[in-house]
Parts: sequence; C-alpha cells; structure tokens
Amino acid sequence: MPIFRRFYSLLRPRQQVKASSYLLERHPDQLDHFVIVKASDVRFVKLLDKVSDSSYHDADFEYIESVQPRLERVHQGTVQHHTMLRLEMVNIDAGKCIASVRTPSDGCRMLYNCVRALSAKNGVEFGTGFGISAMYLASACRYTGGHLHTIEPELWRAEIAKSELQKRWEGLVTVHHGKAEEVFPRLGLKVDFGYIDAWHSYEVTLRHFELIWASCSPGAVIALDDMARFSAEMDQLWEDLTSRSDVQNAALWNNRIGLIMV
Ligand SMILES: C[S@@+](CC[C@H](N)C(=O)[O-])C[C@H]1O[C@@H](n2cnc3c(N)ncnc32)[C@H](O)[C@@H]1O
Repeated sequence: MPIFRRFYSLLRPRQQVKASSYLLERHPDQLDHFVIVKASDVRFVKLLDKVSDSSYHDADFEYIESVQPRLERVHQGTVQHHTMLRLEMVNIDAGKCIASVRTPSDGCRMLYNCVRALSAKNGVEFGTGFGISAMYLASACRYTGGHLHTIEPELWRAEIAKSELQKRWEGLVTVHHGKAEEVFPRLGLKVDFGYIDAWHSYEVTLRHFELIWASCSPGAVIALDDMARFSAEMDQLWEDLTSRSDVQNAALWNNRIGLIMV
C-alpha cells in the first residue's frame, strides 16, 4: 500500500480516478520492486505494473546466462594478450571481469519486460560491454518486431559482443563501435526504449540522457543503470533528473535502475 499512496497523491485529479480504479483491481504489492518518484500519466503506472509481472518467459534467458562463463574465458585471454604485448587498454576498467561490469540478470529481465510491455520498435543502448544486457534486449525485440542499436567504444569488447550476438540475434541487433555521443546522433533514430549503462559520471550520463531524451517518441522510456548507491554524483544526477519539470514520470527499480517515461 505505501507505494500506491506515494504516487497516487502526485497524479492530477482526472488521472487519479483512472489510476485508482485501475490499481484497486490489482494488488499494489506487485509494484514492490519500484519506488515511484513521480507519476503524472496513468500509462506509466500501468507500464510498471506490466514490467513487475514476471510471467514473460523466454528460452533465451537460460542460454544467455550460460554464455557468460565462456565469454569470461575469451575476455581473460584478450586481457593476457594485451598485457603481454603491452597494448594500451582504453578505459581504466578494461581488465575487469564480465561479471563485474554487466547488469545483473534480474535487472536485465526487468529491462526485457519493459521492451516487451512497451512493444518497443527502436531500442538503443549506450554501453554494450560484452553484450549481456543487449542479448536480453534483443530477445525482447524478437517479440516486438523491434531492433536494438547498441554502442561501445572499447573495440575488443564490441567485437566479442558482436560475434556472440550474431550467433542467436542476427537481424535483431546492431553493435556500433565508438562513443555514444558521437555515434548516436549519426543514426537518426526515433527511440522507443533507451538504456544508458556507459560512463558513470554526472556529466557524461547527463549528456547521454539529453541525447536520447531529444530523440524519443511519445511514451518512450529511458532506463539508467546505477542511479542509486553507486556514487554520490550518480545519486545527485537522479535527484536532479527527477526534479526537472519536464520529467513527469520516474521510478527507481530495486534501488538501482531508474526509469523515466517521456
Ligand atoms: C557497465 S558496462 C556495460 C555493461 C552492459 N550494459 C551489460 O549489462 O552487459 C559499461 C560500458 O560502457 C562503455 N562506455 C564507456 N564510455 C562510453 C561512452 N561514452 N559511450 C558508450 N559506451 C561507453 C564501457 O567501455 C563499458 O564497456
């Protein structure tokens, strides 16, 4: 009940009526994973409700989780190769294992649900990493008839992700090599779903958000990883984004992933 009360008071009167009759038919505990910060549109609450619903199942989930240990070995081989040849690694976290840079599987499942619930056609991801979250998002695109564009500046990560994604998600996803802020404007996309999981600083993430925000179709959702308990600057960013007057619908999933509906 507390979540219901928290958002209900924020709705405009006309929407309160719609939202109350809708939600009273549902058990509010089903929205437990979300803290709704703002909700001026009943479609947003309905979306969160659908996203909380774990009934979507996909045979790809098991496959994706089985890919990680193998990729971890490929990755460690590349790290050793770079170290031996004294090749420069572009980012300071380049040697980190996949498990420590990927979005956890429950977070990936939530993003997957979101793409399906939105019936998103054009998806974009900033920060492919080794492609684990992209695999989930591309799997959802199989059901929505959509396509995911994912962008990664580390060439070797982009290549590992590309070859893995080609095996099972051919035609559903395109991996672009480069920085999101340089690649994305060239794509000319109208975005239905965006996921930002790239360089976790206030300035870069805000820049990424603004880029996608300006290219969103009505009702689109932007998800941002590590919006709480990651660093003081990311906490501040979430605070600032959700305080904006043009941001009217925002919720935080499991104290980690922020969702903002346009
Ligand atoms: C946390 S990892 C992504 C993990 C991936 N989303 C997953 O869950 O499997 C962050 C990635 O963002 C990439 N990155 C850093 N700066 C970036 C930028 N400006 N544009 C796009 N990606 C960036 C990093 O190289 C890194 O691979």
